[in-house]
Amino acid sequence: MQIINGVAEMQALAGETRRQGKSIALVPTMGFLHQGHLSLMHEGRRRGDLLVVSIFVNPTQFGVGEDYEAYPRDMERDQDLARQAGVDIIFAPTARDMYPAHYQTYVSVEEVTRHLCGASRPTHFRGVTTVVCKLFTIVKPHAAIFGEKDYQQLVVIKRMVADLNLEVEIVGMPTYREPDGLAMSSRNSYLTRPERTAALCLSRALKEAAARFGKGERRAEAIVQAAREIIAAEPLAGIDYITLCDTEELKNLGQINREAVLAVAVRIGRARLIDNVVLKP
Ligand code: PAJ
Repeated sequence: MQIINGVAEMQALAGETRRQGKSIALVPTMGFLHQGHLSLMHEGRRRGDLLVVSIFVNPTQFGVGEDYEAYPRDMERDQDLARQAGVDIIFAPTARDMYPAHYQTYVSVEEVTRHLCGASRPTHFRGVTTVVCKLFTIVKPHAAIFGEKDYQQLVVIKRMVADLNLEVEIVGMPTYREPDGLAMSSRNSYLTRPERTAALCLSRALKEAAARFGKGERRAEAIVQAAREIIAAEPLAGIDYITLCDTEELKNLGQINREAVLAVAVRIGRARLIDNVVLKP
């Protein structure tokens, strides 16, 4: 496994790999790797002759007062995990190299970034699409793997790729969970013990919602209400949103008459946790 920090060096190697007729798979991450990330790498390993994992805590996707500085980092441990997962290259650029002085170009997907997480984090997705677009031009992947855990992010990136005619296949992978149901996230490391227990209300709420849906409930409001009651009963949890929308444009649904996603964002202590469940009629 090779570690590349320079943007120019990564770009040159990606170009050479393509000239040799080899395929490239990319797993973009912000590091502090967990099993969720590793499941994406295993998929990437199947899809690329060259598997690149980027590790970059991207400053432009953090808002003012958010956790950019505090975001957990552990490069050594990440390297061990990536090596074990069969990664060929860790691309870990510096913020200076990605955003040099006088940087002023952004990629911005519009409608689908305005609600859900975009409502409380108005500049977040602009940062995500900008860095992912840059990673695509630097690493030149044929396929890039993302988690459904960040459902809106996946939809936004698919939108960007379609709208900008980017030649990369976007692969979505299911959410990897702790045995008790908590979706894995680098930000789970912020949770104290009682908060960790409280955080189970997210997956419990989604499970209850899916059960109601399974029993035939199709009214979005009834399903949202069932989920809301479970999360509201947890004193350490503060609801940011609970929304039921379609899976393509993320427009609110009244009646679940096509594939839908119930997405939640909840603040617990220092952490803002998100999770979702897809409901297929
Ligand atoms: P990060 O939070 O590190 O996540 C990297 C990738 O791992 C994302 O595609 C995310 O959806 C996926 N992922 C996270 N937790 C997961 C889980 N429990 N199961 C399956 N997949 C999971 O998302 C980002 O970084 C950044 O926004 C990034 C796309 C790298 C741009 O900076």
